[in-house]
Amino acid sequence: MLEISNLRAGYGAINVLWDVSLSISQGKLTTIIGPNGAGKTTLLRAIMGLLPASQGEVRLNGQSLNGTPTWKMADVSMTMIPEGRMTFRDMSVEENLIVGAFAKQHRARLKDNLDMSYQMFPRLRERRTQLAGSLSGGEAQMLAMARGLMSDPKLLIIDEPSLGLAPVVVNELFEILTRLKEEGRTIILVEQNTHRAVGVADHVYLMQSGKVVLSQPAAEVSLDHLHDLYFAR
Ligand SMILES: Nc1ncnc2c1ncn2[C@@H]1O[C@H](COP(=O)(O)OP(=O)(O)OP(=O)(O)O)[C@@H](O)[C@H]1O
Ligand SMILES: [Mg+2]
Repeated sequence: MLEISNLRAGYGAINVLWDVSLSISQGKLTTIIGPNGAGKTTLLRAIMGLLPASQGEVRLNGQSLNGTPTWKMADVSMTMIPEGRMTFRDMSVEENLIVGAFAKQHRARLKDNLDMSYQMFPRLRERRTQLAGSLSGGEAQMLAMARGLMSDPKLLIIDEPSLGLAPVVVNELFEILTRLKEEGRTIILVEQNTHRAVGVADHVYLMQSGKVVLSQPAAEVSLDHLHDLYFAR
């Protein structure tokens, strides 16, 4: 569904991604793991057009996305749920959700998608008039997920959703990921929680210093070997 080939990107004179190639299959959950600073978020930004590629290509169903502005990504049914949640703190829960369906073509289905979000995240319904800035970390992550789903994306890109959350909330989050997978969505999940990420994934990529150092079906991954590579033991 999404092919990333020989991608190089970075910030100004500093290059971060070195010839990164990945293949994301339709309806599968692909996880990208790796230590802090490996370039995971940079890769997601490059996929979403938030950073230009200095080399290489991102293709969605055979069509190049190079040069496609980020605001057009909703048109091709791609949504990113960014690291750090990035909810609008001074807006209510419901207003945040409505922003998620801002693009013209999604407005007609606003009410249905709002219902779908509240069904999946009942706590958000209870808190729909509350300011997003006053939510707990777990609730804020659920809001970020629900906002991302408001455009009913086929490809969902999620950056470190479990960061800083209590184990019970992490469980809830992974249940939601499993449900989204069962709905047939294609998911790219960046995670630090390797054990959980490999558990839910179909395919695993490990990144280090801006390069892909391992690509394996999740069922074949040995966590020991993964951790050896991860910590460069
Ligand atoms: N806006 C920026 N300007 C300059 N350098 C940046 C910027 N954002 C990230 N970097 C650098 O790019 C490299 C990769 O960062 P990136 O955020 O992609 O890593 P990551 O794998 O997502 O790490 P983490 O697990 O901590 O989120 C780091 O060396 C970082 O300092
Ligand atoms: Mg990151």
